[in-house]
Amino acid sequence: MFGSQAKPKAEEGRNTMSQAGPVTETSSEAPGGAPAARRAKTLEAKEVNLFYGGFHAVENVNMTIEPNKVTALIGSSGCGKTTFLRSLNRMHELTPGATVRGDIELDGEDIYAAGVDPVAVRRLVGMVFQQPNPFPTMSIYDNVAAGLNFNSGKVSKSERDAIVERSLRGAHLWGEVKDRLDRPGSSLSGGQQQRLCIARATAVSPEVLLMDEPCSALDPVATLAIEELIGELKKEFTIAIVTHNMQQAARASDTTAFFNLEESGKPGRLIEIGPTERIFTKPTQKATEDYVSGRFG
Ligand SMILES: Nc1ncnc2c1ncn2[C@@H]1O[C@H](COP(=O)(O)OP(=O)(O)OP(=O)(O)O)[C@@H](O)[C@H]1O
Ligand SMILES: [Mg+2]
Repeated sequence: MFGSQAKPKAEEGRNTMSQAGPVTETSSEAPGGAPAARRAKTLEAKEVNLFYGGFHAVENVNMTIEPNKVTALIGSSGCGKTTFLRSLNRMHELTPGATVRGDIELDGEDIYAAGVDPVAVRRLVGMVFQQPNPFPTMSIYDNVAAGLNFNSGKVSKSERDAIVERSLRGAHLWGEVKDRLDRPGSSLSGGQQQRLCIARATAVSPEVLLMDEPCSALDPVATLAIEELIGELKKEFTIAIVTHNMQQAARASDTTAFFNLEESGKPGRLIEIGPTERIFTKPTQKATEDYVSGRFG
């Protein structure tokens, strides 16, 4: 269906949802209301190939990222974890010359279909990065509220207040910041900034949260706090997390996907995916066993 044609680059700079396709539908949850129990969406990659110009970075990935579960992506440096993660919310195509082949479906809807607004996709499939990246001069409150104006047209002040509080509570940060919401985001510690970024990502009610090594800049205490938070967030969201920390994958994920590349310059491939416990105790592939037991990578 997708043939050999690389998909076109996304049009950049489109900031409205007006031309968006069906993928733009947001949660039915009332703004400011209590978080409703909901089934998150399934993200499915079908024969996904990713390129940087002529360089084939990721080859033929088929993977289902299941709702209300944490899927860990592991594998040695350079095997394409970040590249793959960024294709799941159409960020890959923001790199000049980068292209995608294959299908990625959110509950059966192709996020790369013609007419789907990539900005709307990124709102439904939110991302948390390796380095906490709050808007430094913006207040803590405004950091969390940053995506709301675009999301649902008019959000009243009281609705906004409620969403900010709920998101900060959900990110286990409310108690630490409720008396200084007007202070800049940069006034927080690294671990607090990462929780602020998680609050910002969840404030717009995404379906999926992608996290690229979200704890690599944090100390062990802050890391455990984020892991505990991830365990809470999966009740509402579908979560994929890249990590180099094997204990973290073992502790925090339900499913583990192991990526590898045969040699430098070759594309990365998904070698094996399965329940985390099985991947760590009885992997079917030798490369997986070598990696999880620390003999490789
Ligand atoms: N912007 C880019 N332009 C060209 N090649 C890139 C670009 N970003 C990444 N690559 C290449 O794509 C391949 C996969 O990189 P990627 O960053 O996805 O790996 P990774 O598994 O996330 O590694 P790490 O664990 O070190 O973060 C690597 O060979 C990398 O050099
Ligand atoms: Mg990476």
